[in-house]
This record gives sequence, C-alpha cells and structure tokens, in this order.
Amino acid sequence: MKQVQDFYFLKARKEGYPARSVYKLEEAQRKFSLLRPGDKVLDLGCQPGSWSMYAARVVGVRGLVVGVDITAGPIKTRGGAPFHFVLGDITKESVQEKVKSICPRYQVLISDMAPRTTGNRWADQQQSLRLAETVLELAADWLQPGGHLYCKVFEGEDFQELVATARRSFSRVKVFKPKSSRAESREVFLLAMNHQG
Ligand SMILES: C[S@@+](CC[C@H](N)C(=O)[O-])C[C@H]1O[C@@H](n2cnc3c(N)ncnc32)[C@H](O)[C@@H]1O
Repeated sequence: MKQVQDFYFLKARKEGYPARSVYKLEEAQRKFSLLRPGDKVLDLGCQPGSWSMYAARVVGVRGLVVGVDITAGPIKTRGGAPFHFVLGDITKESVQEKVKSICPRYQVLISDMAPRTTGNRWADQQQSLRLAETVLELAADWLQPGGHLYCKVFEGEDFQELVATARRSFSRVKVFKPKSSRAESREVFLLAMNHQG
C-alpha cells in the first residue's frame, strides 16, 4: 500500500485509523447511508482494519462486524459492534463456510479487496474483476432482501458487464469514485443498494 503522507493519511493517523482507506467508506456512508445501527456487516479484505473499525462504530453494540482477510494481524475495533475475524481467502469454500458459521445473513457487504498487483495493468484489472464477481455471487446468497453492497473494482474491460449483473439483483446501482481515492488509481466502487432477494 502506497504510504504517501497526504491529507487523508494524516487525517487517518490523527483519528486513530490504521489506513486512509477508511475515508472511501466514510464518504459513501455520508452520501448513501449504507450502514444503519443494528446492521450485520461483512467486510471482505478487512486488514489492517479501518473499514471494520468504522463500521463497528456506525452499527453500534446491537450490530455485528465480520472481517475476512488472507493476511493475519490484530484488529482493534475500539467500541461499537462485536467483531469477528476470519483468516483466509474468501474465494475458498472452507473460508466461506467459516463466515456462514458465524452469521449466515448480512444487511451490508463491503469489499475493499484488491489483488496483489503484478504491474500488468490488464491482468490486474481482470483479477480485480474476478474478485468482484465472487463478491456479487456471495451477495446473492448472504445479503438479506433490502441489503446493500459496496465493492472496490479496478475499472477496465468487462467492467460494464459486472455493473449489468448487479442491476439484475439490486434496485439502485451506481459507480462511485470517492474523493479520497487517488485520481491516478483505476479503482472505483460498485455501490448496489436494495437487494431484491
Ligand atoms: C486495500 S486492503 C483493505 C483495507 C481495509 N479496507 C482497511 O480499511 O483497513 C485490501 C485487502 O484485501 C485482502 N485480500 C485480497 N484478496 C483477498 C481474498 N481473496 N480473500 C480475502 N482477503 C483478500 C488483502 O490481503 C488486503 O489486506
């Protein structure tokens, strides 16, 4: 992860978040009210923990946050909802089973997952797209009717097909580029609201 000490990096440090990426979720929350008190939230690619910390605060003690990552590491949510961490690759069935055993249904699925970049722009984009497709498939099984999805994707070839797939099962779909996402980055966020179940 690029550690340029920009405005958002310094703000995250000051506010006690381990990564500046928290503001990519915070802006979506301010604009679209994704998370509500009491929600159960699944955070895919949760390390080092900023999104989980933020979500736990917003959904509060009656909610739940389950975080999944292939990288281990301590995540301290500091108040709010209970937090469970699952170590592993979410594309693997065994890891999906662990998630389901903690909670089978969620109101909100958030994914900031990014593939390990190779420098090959096309290959990285395709990898990111495959991850996002997996997230959409999991959303079909795990999101409650009326639930929301917020998922990072590297924009490129076949991206519009992903958006069209989302439109088939959510009533509101938008492609969102938060201000804190660097202009030179190809990342955008697929926001899909009100899952049709
Ligand atoms: C940009 S970071 C997430 C930052 C996090 N949202 C935060 O605010 O602290 C992306 C994470 O996705 C994880 N990741 C990538 N592919 C994954 C996969 N298949 N299963 C689980 N985690 C994955 C990486 O290990 C990495 O920690």
